[in-house]
Amino acid sequence: MLRIVWILLFLNCIPDGVFCRKFTTLQLVSKVVLEHSDINIVVCPAAIEMALAQIYLGAGGETEAELKDVLSYPGKSKYQVMEAYRRAQNPQLKIISRLFLSSGFSILPAYQKMSKSYFNIDAESTDLSDQGVNKVNQWITSKTKGEVVDLVDPFMMDDTAKVILVNAASYEAFLKFNSAERNFYLPNEKRSVRVKMMDVLGNFKYNFQSKLDSHIVAFPYGNSNLSMVMIVPRTFRGIGNLEDNLEHLDLQQLKLKRVNISLPKFKIKYDQDMAQPLVDVGVKSIFNHPNLTHLTKSKEILRIDSLAHSASIEVNERRGRSSASEDSELEILRSRRRRRSRSAFKVTCNRPFLFAVVQGTKILFFGRFSRPE
Ligand SMILES: *[C@@H]1O[C@H](CO)[C@@H](O)[C@H](O)[C@H]1NC(C)=O
Ligand SMILES: *[C@@H]1O[C@H](CO)[C@@H](O)[C@H](O)[C@H]1NC(C)=O
Ligand SMILES: *[C@@H]1O[C@H](CO)[C@@H](O)[C@H](O)[C@H]1NC(C)=O
Repeated sequence: MLRIVWILLFLNCIPDGVFCRKFTTLQLVSKVVLEHSDINIVVCPAAIEMALAQIYLGAGGETEAELKDVLSYPGKSKYQVMEAYRRAQNPQLKIISRLFLSSGFSILPAYQKMSKSYFNIDAESTDLSDQGVNKVNQWITSKTKGEVVDLVDPFMMDDTAKVILVNAASYEAFLKFNSAERNFYLPNEKRSVRVKMMDVLGNFKYNFQSKLDSHIVAFPYGNSNLSMVMIVPRTFRGIGNLEDNLEHLDLQQLKLKRVNISLPKFKIKYDQDMAQPLVDVGVKSIFNHPNLTHLTKSKEILRIDSLAHSASIEVNERRGRSSASEDSELEILRSRRRRRSRSAFKVTCNRPFLFAVVQGTKILFFGRFSRPE
């Protein structure tokens, strides 16, 4: 069970003179992994993107222009951009996202209507002082069936809090392959622990990227368009160098290769307020003086205080019966397996590594596995 409470943006920064507001998903996730080293992390850029789209829907003036740029969906009007956004959504991702506005401000009926139509959710006015935040936390806890608790820290709120965004997304990946207990090395502690590892064999997209000094393996799973990408440092202590150079990660230059990859089963849940990481990559105006003229009539300047994000991911052996198409997929793998004569390139995720869930080159989830629980 993965529960993710955020959305990512994936945008290319095209140097176009003075203003360059766009950033890449990798820049954003780099900020998060670099600031919190040596712990298990997962974030969901797709959820962060949804939160920004919810703001965009209520935005006017410069804020609208900034978010249109950041979201970078085609279209001239807000309606066209939102339709393009809607078409790009992957129904397999379960993302819950909601905007809360301080009580005393009423939400415009037109915003409510669009929020319902694009996100299937009502925006709400509520008390955002420290007690009021409990209601927000209860809402996300019930929506995530108890997985996400106390996401918004009441101490972060004060009586001036005006807008907060809360979102959660969930995803799970099940693989059906041999598993065995093996060592996982914790280089910072100079020791190893035993973990259950799964061996996945097939013709997968692979590349060794020397700037990262890491192996990149992308393998599709299930009967979807999604792939799991493992980014595994060549050396046991290579995670630091990999993270420092993460912006150079290139998911397009991968070539098919026969790979036998061993990876641990894992489950990660991670909560983080994404407001600061977004400011760090240049999304500033929505946190300064946002123009939210299509959200509420109030003349008062609203502030967006928090973008509370919680994500979780589980990668495990497939349980129960697989569907017919999954069986045929496995059959191909089994017959490949019989052709033992062609040796497979071995990649073992037995040291801290990074991972992503991608659709094409779009990063839906990104994280680090640093230590088995
Ligand atoms: C906010 O945006 C609207 C257009 O959507 C514009 O008419 C208004 O002047 C803007 N307000 C400010 C303070 O810039
Ligand atoms: C895979 O992607 C194609 C093209 O984007 C889409 O039409 C199809 O519905 C997707 N399949 C699944 C299972 O998501
Ligand atoms: C894949 O790697 C595992 C672990 O090294 C090994 O036990 C297994 O035999 C390999 N499978 C194939 C088909 O090479």
